Amino acid sequence: MANISFILQYFLKPRTTGAILPSSRFLARKMMANIDFARAECIVEYGPGTGVFTREILRARKSGTKIILIERNENFFTLLQENFSDEKNVFIYCDSAENIGTHLAAQGLAHADYIVSGLPFASLPHEISQNILARTREFLHRDGRFVTFQYTLLKKKIFKDYLDLVDIRREFRNVPPAYVFTFKKKTLGETFSEEKVSPKPPSKRL
Ligand SMILES: C[S@@+](CC[C@H](N)C(=O)[O-])C[C@H]1O[C@@H](n2cnc3c(N)ncnc32)[C@H](O)[C@@H]1O
Repeated sequence: MANISFILQYFLKPRTTGAILPSSRFLARKMMANIDFARAECIVEYGPGTGVFTREILRARKSGTKIILIERNENFFTLLQENFSDEKNVFIYCDSAENIGTHLAAQGLAHADYIVSGLPFASLPHEISQNILARTREFLHRDGRFVTFQYTLLKKKIFKDYLDLVDIRREFRNVPPAYVFTFKKKTLGETFSEEKVSPKPPSKRL
C-alpha cells in the first residue's frame, strides 16, 4: 500500500518526491550506522515519506529521545500520523525542512544531535536546497551529524559550503543503489568572525 502511494506521489510531484519507490530497509540500516543512539537527545528526520527510515530510528532510539519528522507532502504527512502519532516523543510536522528551527523551538530545543535526510537534493530547486543546508548548519549540534543519501556522487559539491564530509558508504540493495553520506557541521574559520577582523587603516592618498 505504501509503495502504491509512493509511486502515485512520484507521478504527481516528481521533483520533490525524487524517487519512484521508498528506500529499502538495507539502505535504512546503513543510514543509521553513524548514529550513537545512546547519546542522542534529539533526532530530526527530513522528508520521511512513508517512514522507512523512521521505523529504524524508532527501533533503535532511547524512549526519551525526541524525534521530529518534517514532511512537506500532505499525503505522506497523513500516513506518518496514522503510523507514528501514538509513539512517545514523536512530533510530526507538515512543513518544509527549511523551518527546522521553528519545530525544534516548539520542543524547547536549540539544536538537533542528528539530522537524517531523505530529501532529493539532486532534483529540489537549488534555492530550497541551499536554504535547507544553511538551516542544517545552523541547527545541527556542534558535535552532531547530518546523514543523507544520494543516487550519484555528482551533486556532492552542493554540501561543501555548509558541511564537512565524514564518510561515504555504498548500499547496492536499494533501487537504485545509493550512497550514504555522513557530514559534520562546518566550522567557520576565524577570518569569518567580524570581531576578529581588524578595521582597515584609512588609505593614504599619494
Ligand atoms: C526520495 S523521498 C524519500 C522518502 C523516504 N525517506 C525514503 O527514503 O523512502 C523524498 C521525500 O522528501 C519529501 N520532501 C521533499 N521536499 C521537502 C522539503 N522541502 N521539506 C520536507 N520534506 C520534503 C518528499 O515529499 C518525500 O517524502
